Parts: sequence; structure tokens; C-alpha cells
Amino acid sequence: MKKLTTISLIAVLFLLSCQKTELVSSNFATNDDAVSSILSPRDMSSLMLPRSDDYPSIPQDPKNPITAEKVQLGQLLFHESRLGQTPKQQQGLHTYSCATCHHAEAGFQSGMSQAISEGGNGFGVTGELRIPSPLYSTANLDVQPIRTPTVLNTAYSEVILWNGSLGGTGVNLGTEANWKVSDGTNNNFLGMQGLEGGGVAALKKHRLTPDTVWLASVPEYKNLFDLAFPDVPEAQRVSSLNVSLAMAAYQRTLLPNEAPFQKYLQGDPRAMTADQVAGMNLFFGKAKCAKCHNGPSLGTVQFFALGMADMQQGVFGAVNIAPGNTESKGRGGFTGKAADLYKFKVPQLYNLKDAGFYGHGGNFTSIEQVIRYINTAVPQNANVPATQLAKQFVPLNLNDDEIAKLVAFVKDALYDPNLSRYAPASLPSGDCIPNNDAQSKIDRGCQ
Ligand code: HEC
Ligand code: HEC
Repeated sequence: MKKLTTISLIAVLFLLSCQKTELVSSNFATNDDAVSSILSPRDMSSLMLPRSDDYPSIPQDPKNPITAEKVQLGQLLFHESRLGQTPKQQQGLHTYSCATCHHAEAGFQSGMSQAISEGGNGFGVTGELRIPSPLYSTANLDVQPIRTPTVLNTAYSEVILWNGSLGGTGVNLGTEANWKVSDGTNNNFLGMQGLEGGGVAALKKHRLTPDTVWLASVPEYKNLFDLAFPDVPEAQRVSSLNVSLAMAAYQRTLLPNEAPFQKYLQGDPRAMTADQVAGMNLFFGKAKCAKCHNGPSLGTVQFFALGMADMQQGVFGAVNIAPGNTESKGRGGFTGKAADLYKFKVPQLYNLKDAGFYGHGGNFTSIEQVIRYINTAVPQNANVPATQLAKQFVPLNLNDDEIAKLVAFVKDALYDPNLSRYAPASLPSGDCIPNNDAQSKIDRGCQ
């Protein structure tokens, strides 16, 4: 204990003394793995997440500045199953929400390899027990042919979805010819970023058409819309677009900034174990993960093929997957360019262990499996031509000990244990969070 304190003091002094140094500083304090870091102070600050209420420091769409009122409204709407009012079967009315597939208990993923919104029944503990309702025909379930990514850290994703198709700015400028009504990419013409404009597409896709008459009739909602959108004429204030804008503001605040790695970056060298520090050094060094996973979310708006399997190639019990679906074609399914085929957006890496399923197809069931796959670099997916694979997808020759340390870093140091702070305690409707079907109400103790 005494040794650790002395070492951390040296580390802090070192950090203070070399604020301006840009050199990669290895083994700066001692040779003890617990404190030696290959990250320079400059690297460290580029990886730090802001506080969730430090709005000026959170990336945002200039057309939708984050305000406390929007965040508060968006938090409620994101979890509000009263928005679930255009179901394919009447039994589903008012039983599902955005949070059905993106809730705090699963790190804002769904807890399932293939998430079910409308037509699902039950929740379990982390969303893992949501099964199709016997009242539903399979064709009417709201399921997608690709795994549900988290909405954590989406502030760092100017365009969204695995193929980056939603968002009318950034890398999507120049793709206008591919924006169409059928997949909601026509909302890109709003000229907003993915979370803002894309939210309108998500509402429609997931049968969550907001009942504006009802929303305006609930005093708590009416008041929040007034406070969040004071510049919009009152008659237009409660609209699908503003629902999307409020939810976007909320999603931008979903930052896993209490993870040990973040605490370490904030200046607490004891926040991570020695193995996690060693894993961090491998991540940013020898294992070259940071070539792609970088920035505060450790994900980027870049697209690569790692040859991972699609959902139809392995997930047991997955349904409603059309052969040749565009989702499985990655960025190329959206841009229509051969060079983009099978390339997926580099995902963020926080709170993965809450989900239990990884890769765009949800075919990996542990973080270790993913890392072993990247280490051996043998593609799973026969549809992906070798010429499409990322040039960095080559054997890394990491040994078992190094893999264990990388896993310790990704699984536990990038894990914020307190995401429930982002979920609302209750909803103006009084509905059960995040689902309002009979079994979910029992599982969640809502009745
Ligand atoms: C049926 C479960 C389901 C529901 C309900 C759902 N989503 Fe999703 N969400 C998904 C899936 C699956 C994807 C990935 C789709 C793709 O990439 O093609 C996704 C992707 C996203 C992303 C992109 C994340 C990223 O890193 O690119 C955001 C943001 C998002 N959803 C927000 C929402 C919002 C807002 C709602 C409510 C209007 C919603 N979702 C409702 C399943 C769901
Ligand atoms: C060439 C860029 C690149 C490199 C290098 C890279 N990754 Fe990734 N990583 C990706 C992409 C792209 C995906 C998503 C691929 C897919 O789903 O088809 C991904 C997926 C993952 C996932 C699964 C996340 C999820 O939500 O499903 C983990 C974990 C991961 N990478 C960790 C690492 C680690 C650890 C390293 C270093 C050993 C690494 N990656 C190196 C691009 C990269």
C-alpha cells in the first residue's frame, strides 16, 4: 500500500511536470506496470470524456444545442412506451420504447443477440429474457438483422448505425443520391447529424410515432416542450422532430465517465489494476487497437471489414432476416460502392460486458473471443473477399498472458458501474420502464 502511494505520488508529480511534453513516455515513474503508461499527457486528454452536465464540452449538432431541459425531456421520451402507438398488432400498443432495445441494465444495448421491441414479452434482469409473445406472428415482431449497438458515447458518432447511413453531415456529404424514404435516410436532408435527423427515422422504423395530442395534454410533457423549444411556435412545438431532437440531446449525455480508465485519465493512477494498465499499454502499443479504436469513446466514424459473421450465419433463433439484406453489406449496402462493402463503423468499447454479444452479427459471446479473433485474424465470413479486409487485420501474435491483460482493460477498465444514473425513476405516463407488457411489469416490479 505504502509503495503504491509513493509511486502514485511520483506519477502525479511527473504528470504535473510534463504538461507540455508530447513525447510518448514509457516507464516514466518506475518499471512497475501499475503506473507506467505509454500515454503522453496529450494522449490522455484526447481520450477523456467530459462530465455529462458539461454541455459545452460534449460534441453536438450546432442546429440542436444541448440544454438541460432537452436532456430531461429526451430522457423521459426515450423510455416512454406511450410512444409505442403504431404497433403492427394491437396487443403491442403502448408496450415498448427506444429503451426496450437500449437500456441502462445492458449498457444501453439490449441484452439479446437479436433485440425484440414490439411483440416481445418480458425483460429478465438485463433484458436477456425478452422472448416473442405467443400472441405474435413472427413477421410482425420488431427485430433487426443486425446486433443492437449501444447509444452510450454516440455524441462521438456524427453519423450513426453500423453502416453510418443516418446523418446529413460529415462523411455522408456526397452520398445524397442514396438517401431514400424506404430506410429513413431521406431525413439526412434535414442537414443534421445522425442522432438528430436519424432519430426521426428510428421513431418510424420502431413504430414509435409520437402521439402529439396526448403529449401536449400531459402537463409535465407540455411544460418540458415549452422550456426545451421556446423558439418554435407553440402549435409546432410537440412534433416528431422535436421528440428526436430532445432524445438526441439526452443520448449525447450518456457518457461512461465513471469507468476506471476515465478515473485514471482524470489523474487517479490507482483507479486501474496492474493488469488493466498493462492491457492499456498493449491496446495503445503493441496490439495496435488504437489505430482504429481512438478518441474519448474508443470508436471512430471510420469503416473497416474484419470479416466477422453476420447474424444469419450463426445467431441461434434469429428471425426475419432476409437473405442478402443491406445491413450485412456494411457501408457498401448504403453507398453502393464496391470499395465499401462489408465495412462497419468502428464501435465504441465501453460497457461491453453488460451486453454479452459482440460484433455486428452478435456472434461472439465474450470479449475474450473477439480479442482472440482479432489476434489470429482468420476471417469468419466467407462472403467477405480478402481484398476488402482491413490491412491491419493480420495476426498480432499476442500470447495468452497479453490477451488476458487486454481483456482486463477492455472488459473491466472500460466499464462504468453506475449507468443507472442515466435512467429516469418514473415516467409521466406511469408506464413501466423500459417495457410495459405484462411479463416485463412482473420482471421489473412495476405491479
Ligand atoms: C428493436 C430494437 C430497437 C429499438 C426499439 C430501437 N433501436 Fe436503436 N438500434 C437497434 C439496432 C438493431 C440498431 C443497429 C441498426 C443498424 O446499424 O442498421 C440500432 C441503432 C441505433 C443507434 C446507432 C448507434 C451507433 O453507434 O451508430 C442509435 C443512436 C439508436 N439506435 C437510437 C434509437 C432510438 C432513439 C430509438 C427510439 C426511437 C431506438 N434506437 C429504438 C435496435 C433498436
Ligand atoms: C482495422 C481497425 C480495427 C482494429 C485495428 C481493431 N478493431 Fe476492434 N473493431 C473494428 C471494427 C470495424 C469492429 C466491428 C466489426 C464488425 O462488427 O464486423 C470492431 C469490433 C471490436 C469489438 C466488438 C465491439 C462490439 O460492440 O461488438 C471489440 C471488443 C474490439 N473491436 C476490440 C478491439 C481490440 C482489443 C483491438 C486490438 C487488439 C481491436 N479491436 C483492433 C475495428 C478495429
